[in-house]
Amino acid sequence: MKHFINLKDIPAKDLRKIITDAKRRKKLRKKLSTLEVDKGAPLKGKILIQMFEKASSRTRISFYLAIKQLGGGTLTLRSNELHLGQGGESIEDTAKILSTYGDGFMLRTDSDNKIEDFKNYLSIPIINGLSPSSHPTQVLSDIFTVEEIKKKPIKNLNICWIGDSNNVLNSLIAASVKFSFKLNIGCPKNYEPKKSILDWANKNSAIINIYGNASKAVKNADVIFSDKVISLNDNVNKQKKIKDFMKFKISNELMSYAKKNSIFLHCLPRGNEVSQKVFLGKQSKVWQQALNRVHVQKSILLYCFGKLR
Ligand code: CP
Ligand code: NVA
Repeated sequence: MKHFINLKDIPAKDLRKIITDAKRRKKLRKKLSTLEVDKGAPLKGKILIQMFEKASSRTRISFYLAIKQLGGGTLTLRSNELHLGQGGESIEDTAKILSTYGDGFMLRTDSDNKIEDFKNYLSIPIINGLSPSSHPTQVLSDIFTVEEIKKKPIKNLNICWIGDSNNVLNSLIAASVKFSFKLNIGCPKNYEPKKSILDWANKNSAIINIYGNASKAVKNADVIFSDKVISLNDNVNKQKKIKDFMKFKISNELMSYAKKNSIFLHCLPRGNEVSQKVFLGKQSKVWQQALNRVHVQKSILLYCFGKLR
């Protein structure tokens, strides 16, 4: 049994194994319809309990499809439907009950501590489906998408992030260490990633450059990532933050600084950080990116259940 909480705590060889498995499984599914089960039904009889303390469209649906395609099932809960969410039961007791009924637990939460607390009391694997500090299932899937489209290992590509220093970027920084790729970050002054994350990355031989100028960050990029300026439950002066990011909007003009065959990726949902033309343009691969969540999460589930070959 393995947890999937933060990319920085998972060995690089395991992350690569997950991607390799996802590639093989995606290919084998070409002729299967959405709910047909993969050969061998490796998670037959297993149930994944998913709990959301925050909104979600993609994570919820893609995990549903992922476990179904492996032969298992899922139960999706909103935290306020549980005694835990109403303040009437402890994490310890809830975790023990989840472990009694379920085989795996996926949690989207506003608290990184809550994931750790659950981990300590669960006897089933826990998957981080987005927390304030990271979004590991998203980013591992994005690495898969980049390599699928570019047909080369990500370590041979220039990756660029334009936007807020949020959970998705933190996971991308962790991925840049695990997969050894060069990462340029473009963000306004005072919105740089936390020192503790950069210190960890630098200690682990990361190649990260931070620019206060979007076109400099994008120069020569193979892949441009972005995300909402205001994340879920981001407790800030929203108008001020949006204004501070005005020069960091992804436009066709900004994309022209990247390589001609560069691609644009965005985990979704989107805000005003990207123009309609770029988002719906030829370089944008956001729908393929969203679909790949299903394929990669299947291999993440197999990893957690100790069934990755
Ligand atoms: N990208 C992503 O995690 O989307 P949801 O918030 O819709 O799950
Ligand atoms: N950074 C965003 C990602 C949404 C999938 C958020 O946390 O809201």
